[in-house]
Amino acid sequence: MGKPKVFVTRVIPNDGLDQIRAFCDATVWEDELPPPREVILRETRDADGLVSLLTDKIDGELMDACPRLRVVSNYAVGFDNLDIPAGSSRGILMGNTPGVLTETTADFAFALLMASARRIVEGADYVRADRWKTWGPMLLMGHDVHHATLGLVGLGRIGVEMAKRARGFEMRVIYYDVIRHEDFEQEYGLTYAPLEDVLAQADFVSVHTPLTPETHHLMNRERFALMKPSAILINTSRGPVVDADALLEALQSGQIAGAALDVTEPEPLAADSPLVQLPNCLVVPHIASASRVTRGKMADIAARNLIAGLTGEALPAGLNNDALGQGRSTLPRDW
Ligand code: GLV
Ligand code: GLV
Repeated sequence: MGKPKVFVTRVIPNDGLDQIRAFCDATVWEDELPPPREVILRETRDADGLVSLLTDKIDGELMDACPRLRVVSNYAVGFDNLDIPAGSSRGILMGNTPGVLTETTADFAFALLMASARRIVEGADYVRADRWKTWGPMLLMGHDVHHATLGLVGLGRIGVEMAKRARGFEMRVIYYDVIRHEDFEQEYGLTYAPLEDVLAQADFVSVHTPLTPETHHLMNRERFALMKPSAILINTSRGPVVDADALLEALQSGQIAGAALDVTEPEPLAADSPLVQLPNCLVVPHIASASRVTRGKMADIAARNLIAGLTGEALPAGLNNDALGQGRSTLPRDW
């Protein structure tokens, strides 16, 4: 029997790609931009496995067009681009890359918090524009981070790591989650509160939920209205958790002071889009997990998930091992 045939929808680090190429007959989409859907359909039509990115929508229609498909390995922790029930009902194993990016993503969320609080990007732009003439008593004043209140919306692993970082700055940390985590409250000195209270009390609101039908536009007009006019929103989860029109309005009207976004709705945002143009909105291109080491580890897990699925074993980080009567994942899940 020949090697299993797989399609990899983008070049990922060699930590994973080398394993995939050794085990499989792999076609890799080499462009910087994602493959159009018809390319994914064509390349996966007779494939046994697929390595997808968060930009690729993997739904039942695609699965029906790819009758040999046995495993979909998503190179991301978020998996809102995958239809898991559709995979389960067709016997297709699906996996993601949890755990390895938790701290890297929290580092970045905290970097966004600090950058927006202290207007670091505006300051750098000011110098680049040659506007720096003297030390200014009122120049680019921002918000203190130390001793401020951090409100976490979602206390998964990334949220917990964010709380740990905040403690070093002696911040008060309050959180809302659909599940209360009294163990973390004790261990990290967190306070649980209903979402409305978290939004009303926080100087910084950092969003750490997955994107689900329940969290779609969780941050909407009514919720921004609860926030302090001095508050800053940080989003490193998924763009659609925030209603972009409501955010724009809140930033323009002074309802909130600022935002720092690693994720947007839609992605990408063009340079002339209103949110990007606003000085009090910092937008970066979905790079929270982008450290060299972490992206390598994500590639390794994506490869191991793929190869396990092709071999008929439980995925190390599976999303539907249980539904398909496989053993449990050996790597813990993020959510
Ligand atoms: C990135 O956003 C990921 O989900 O890994
Ligand atoms: C979930 O995907 C997250 O990155 O918070």
